[in-house]
Amino acid sequence: MTFDNLTIVDHPLVQHKLTLMREKDTSTAGFRQLLREISMLLAYEVTRDLPMTMKNIETPLMEMDSPVLKGKKLALISILRAGNGLLDGVLELIPSARVGFVGLYRDHKTLQPVQYYFKVPEGLNNRRVIAVDPMLATGNSSVAAIDLLKAAGATDIRFLCLLAAPEGVKRMAEAHPDVPVVTAALDEKLNELGYILPGLGDAGDRMFGTK
Ligand code: URA
Repeated sequence: MTFDNLTIVDHPLVQHKLTLMREKDTSTAGFRQLLREISMLLAYEVTRDLPMTMKNIETPLMEMDSPVLKGKKLALISILRAGNGLLDGVLELIPSARVGFVGLYRDHKTLQPVQYYFKVPEGLNNRRVIAVDPMLATGNSSVAAIDLLKAAGATDIRFLCLLAAPEGVKRMAEAHPDVPVVTAALDEKLNELGYILPGLGDAGDRMFGTK
């Protein structure tokens, strides 16, 4: 299965770390550490096409024009709560990024995502925005989060996740064809409860040790 909106990071270190994270006996501490490491590698890929400009600098030996990032600091948006696990590693690589949070829960009656928290950096319309959530499963909350970011002015958005299900990638492509998705793996499918198979279980529970 291929999707035009999807990039799978097939670097050996990413794939090795992901396998360790999938294993059910990996400890909470181990999972968290691996997530931090893999997030940095994924951040490297998701920022590959950041716009650059040249800056005149002086080395100890001479002047030169050297490349630097162009434009305003980028915005990292964590989709709560599991997004925070990815956020830490990405921030390590891009420490000057601005950070926002989107909180959504699923209404039991309507099954639709409902916003309970929304705080994002100013000037989203002038920033590259990277929304992070480890699991792109049904895509319902991810698509709703992107809806909110666009309503707040964002026009240049990437979605970064650890694992994606075909259902979620398809949903994102239909709702937001302008939002590229970067992931470490495209898994087989969702189960009847909306978990990714083979997956790694509940990412939030595994990183925070809540189960
Ligand atoms: N969220 C998770 O944490 N895990 C899944 O498999 C799907 C959604």
